[in-house]
Amino acid sequence: MKKIALYPGTFDPITLGHVDIAQRATQLFDEVIVAIAANPSKQPLFDLDNRIALAESALAGLPRVRVCGFSNLLIQFAQTQHACCIVRGLRAVTDFDYEFQLAGMNRQLAPDLETVFLTPSSDYAYLSSSLVKEIAAHGGDISAFVPNNVARALAVL
Ligand code: COA
Repeated sequence: MKKIALYPGTFDPITLGHVDIAQRATQLFDEVIVAIAANPSKQPLFDLDNRIALAESALAGLPRVRVCGFSNLLIQFAQTQHACCIVRGLRAVTDFDYEFQLAGMNRQLAPDLETVFLTPSSDYAYLSSSLVKEIAAHGGDISAFVPNNVARALAVL
């Protein structure tokens, strides 16, 4: 049976760190679904359709990766997609508490759904979408941190 992993997040916007994790996940799974949460509580800069479009274009070079938006519970969406696993990136020890809590709650809700943590390349260990947006808002160079299409989208805001 095909092993499908779900890589969820807000992706506001997708960064090269996210692309790196998605690419690593393709080495472990037959198919990787980048699952973009509507997440209105985070008040995203890009609306869901734009975040999906930016991610699709950024991930076009990875054939076994597809992008979906979702607005229900992560475990419910994972079940509808027949995913066996959730993939999350761990950049530093500071991510751990939150990720441990998320994985623990998801396991309580769906005991058969495993969570796998992958670490990004050290080039992206300090990267976050918020920092990228802040640097871009002040006219800084973000070309080393995001795909070209995302850099262009941030430049016109
Ligand atoms: N490279 C760069 N940045 C990374 C990264 C990587 N490899 N991995 C994480 N990040 C950053 C993100 O850019 C983001 O930064 P920001 O907050 O500064 O913008 C931060 O780490 C965490 O964001 P993200 O990975 O997108 O996760 P999230 O915390 O925004 O999303 C969900 C969490 C969507 C998985 C969670 O809210 C969820 O499952 N929601 C659905 C509803 C649900 O089921 N809730 C119950 C959960 S028990």
